[in-house]
Amino acid sequence: MKKLQLVDLNLINAKIFLKNEFIEAGISIEANRINKIAKLPNMPKASKTIDVNGNIVLPGLIDVHVHLRDLKLSYKEDFNTGTCAAAAGGFTTVLDMPNTQPPTNTPERLKKKIQRAKNRVIVNVGFYAAFPKQFKQIVEMYRNGAIAFKVFLYHPITELDVNCDDVLLKVFKCAKQLNRPVAVHAEEGEIVQRIEEDLRKSGKSSLNHHLKAHSIKREVNAVQRVVKLAKQTGSHIHFCHISAASSIRHIKKLKQHITCETTPHHIFLTKDVLRKCGSIALMNPPLRSRLNTTRLWHALNDEWIDILASDHAPHALQEKTNENIWEVSPGIPGLETTLPLMLTQVNNGRMSWGRLTQILATKPAEIFQLNRGFIKTGSVADLVIVDVNQEYKIDSSKFYSKAKYSPFDGRKVKGKPIKTFVSGCLVYDSGEIVSEPGSGTILTGSSH
Ligand code: DOR
Ligand code: ZN
Ligand code: ZN
Repeated sequence: MKKLQLVDLNLINAKIFLKNEFIEAGISIEANRINKIAKLPNMPKASKTIDVNGNIVLPGLIDVHVHLRDLKLSYKEDFNTGTCAAAAGGFTTVLDMPNTQPPTNTPERLKKKIQRAKNRVIVNVGFYAAFPKQFKQIVEMYRNGAIAFKVFLYHPITELDVNCDDVLLKVFKCAKQLNRPVAVHAEEGEIVQRIEEDLRKSGKSSLNHHLKAHSIKREVNAVQRVVKLAKQTGSHIHFCHISAASSIRHIKKLKQHITCETTPHHIFLTKDVLRKCGSIALMNPPLRSRLNTTRLWHALNDEWIDILASDHAPHALQEKTNENIWEVSPGIPGLETTLPLMLTQVNNGRMSWGRLTQILATKPAEIFQLNRGFIKTGSVADLVIVDVNQEYKIDSSKFYSKAKYSPFDGRKVKGKPIKTFVSGCLVYDSGEIVSEPGSGTILTGSSH
């Protein structure tokens, strides 16, 4: 008699978001991949079955802007806590930023970082590299696995002279040859630093002074400069955390090879929040006016802003609170608040399911060539199951991130990730992390 073939796992009673509509069906998973999407009678037999009780299944989310820290900054976050926070927030893939200690700016350091991450991560992780001082090492960083490159125009993390156009042109060209995007933190670094220094020296150290130094103009000018350079090289530039709606005007000029992201805090919070939360809500670029957030929201819905990224930037609580603003570390955790905030918008009818999956899964995968972010037969089974009806308040004390604070604390949301699957394995289940450190995969730019 022919032996009965069993697949590894069946998810049954699912409402699957497929090709822009919901279908009621099941998903069978075999060897980490989606093997079949079908109604129950047509599903193969499985060794294990999970009833998802009519809840919605989305492609696992992808956050292309995460600071997992680790190494010498493990007290802020480490590869395990950061990826647990990702899984709890419905993210199955994150891209890690290179401003670590030591920075990811040599092929050797990238290799070591990957080595360390391997046994600790529980979701898929890819790494950005900062451009090394020696140009010939750029190719080597790509070969060692860099998914993309990162340029911080404010507070450069390498010795690369980012204020020199010729230097930027050169590295943009290199990235283009490797077919890798360059992510840019666009703020006019030199000027911001000069203003900060002047304010600091004259004893001006309040939240408002921080806003003054990091004004909209500093971002818009930096975006304009980089767009001009990108035009000359034809490289793919991806602007991180666009906070100023007027930046979009310049991005529109070169949309064919420029992409950009904004963050939940830049679309949901205004600078008034700073009065309530104080320096907890400090980040770069900072929060702006109500008019600006409204314009950003429309730009995101209208596809001028391509994607949403959390800019998860955890710090120890004591680093976030200081009378002197120049002593406060900028950045907030975002992995565990992004999806609930966005599901609330979908519930309110302010965003469609299609746009939600685009900005948090399909598009981020496309921009960074990750071959993920969709649900179809044969694709890697990275999935998140959400309960759209759960209403609750954001409670940062329950975060898996080491950074247990948030300017969204206490905010009412509707919609919750309840199960997260990475490569077909359940990693997060109703509040609990259920997989071992190291169960995640390291994604490399050169291997797919
Ligand atoms: O707020 C920020 N935090 N902006 C940055 O550019 C860096 C980040 C961090 O690493 O903490
Ligand atoms: Zn940044
Ligand atoms: Zn960042």
